[in-house]
Amino acid sequence: MNGNTKKTAEGAGFSAFASSAFGLEGLVAAELKRLRMRNVQAENGGVRFTASAEELFRCNLRLRFCDRVFILLSEGVCLSFEDLFQLVSAVPWERYMAGTEAVNISCRCARSRLMSPRDCQAVSKKAVLERLKRKTGRTVFPESGAAFPVHLSVHEDRVRILLNTSGPALSRRGYRTWNGEAPLRETLASALVELSPWRPGRPLHDPCCGTGTILIEAAFRQAHRAPGLARSFAMEDFSFVSPSPLRTLREEEAAQADFGRVSDISGSDLDPGALELARRHLRQAGLENRVPLRNVPLQQLQLEAENGVFICNPPYGERLSEQNACRELYRDLRLLKERHPTWSLCAISSDPAFERAYGRRAEKKRRLYNGTLECVYYIYP
Ligand SMILES: C[S@@+](CC[C@H](N)C(=O)[O-])C[C@H]1O[C@@H](n2cnc3c(N)ncnc32)[C@H](O)[C@@H]1O
Repeated sequence: MNGNTKKTAEGAGFSAFASSAFGLEGLVAAELKRLRMRNVQAENGGVRFTASAEELFRCNLRLRFCDRVFILLSEGVCLSFEDLFQLVSAVPWERYMAGTEAVNISCRCARSRLMSPRDCQAVSKKAVLERLKRKTGRTVFPESGAAFPVHLSVHEDRVRILLNTSGPALSRRGYRTWNGEAPLRETLASALVELSPWRPGRPLHDPCCGTGTILIEAAFRQAHRAPGLARSFAMEDFSFVSPSPLRTLREEEAAQADFGRVSDISGSDLDPGALELARRHLRQAGLENRVPLRNVPLQQLQLEAENGVFICNPPYGERLSEQNACRELYRDLRLLKERHPTWSLCAISSDPAFERAYGRRAEKKRRLYNGTLECVYYIYP
């Protein structure tokens, strides 16, 4: 193995990594700094930082744009399976595990000599169990206990061994169980709100609100409601993390949420089925009757309020047959803004002809990814 390896220094906190969609790293880094995490450093696909177990839990509860929070157990260059075996064996697994955990190793390989995720998983699992046998004297590991999700990232021959403290992606806030057509991932919806000129106090309206994701994320922000409050995290079952401080943190976060602050957030859509889903999601998010919804096409939408912000995720027209209709809709978005001259408008689309169809160049643009789809977020203040 190339000697270029690094271990975590738990005394000073864990080395941690908050993964994110490309384009959102800066937002995640700013959030981590606001949460007073140490050594915050953005890189492609995420942000490195240092934090204690309790701080990692707070990150899981509070981070709005991050995919998952990991402990970086070790990293190094691996040119062979033997290198990988050595790297994994050197991690003090006995410190993190009680011996009954269900070890689940996921792996992603890119541009490396080791390109078989399945083989990397098998070699790593063997290394973990052999180390545990050697260090604990036990020979049987029933794997019937809590989930212990480990992720291997193999990129350009560099392997990172990551312990997933979040479990399922943080975009799964727990309020969305019925998916409509092309719903927006919650983390991206939250980023659209953050990158817009909207701030609590100004009206916000989503004229293509679909299942309501943008509205709910904005309402959470206005209510100071931690996005992860209604879900559990893998680290709550880790044997090396004591549960009572986590319970206290959860209670503290719950006490901060005040849905009474939610006002001036509303949505509309022409599809009554999508609005029905939006109502369910609002109810499941604790926001029933706090965000008015209307069944009206944006071509007919007329709002009384002044100085608001439209934020929307209109259809992109990926199928050729839908392209013309979508481009007409983009022109109608401009007409909507012209009917509301004191409002700003922000829209995300993967259609490179968006500005031409809309009829004006955006004052600000930001490249973002909706899943694997490269998009641009257009801001007309
Ligand atoms: C990509 S989806 C929005 C998804 C939404 N952001 C969510 O999280 O579920 C686009 C939405 O635009 C709506 N839409 C399409 N044409 C419209 C129009 N002329 N007026 C209002 N809504 C429209 C569709 O019904 C659909 O719900």
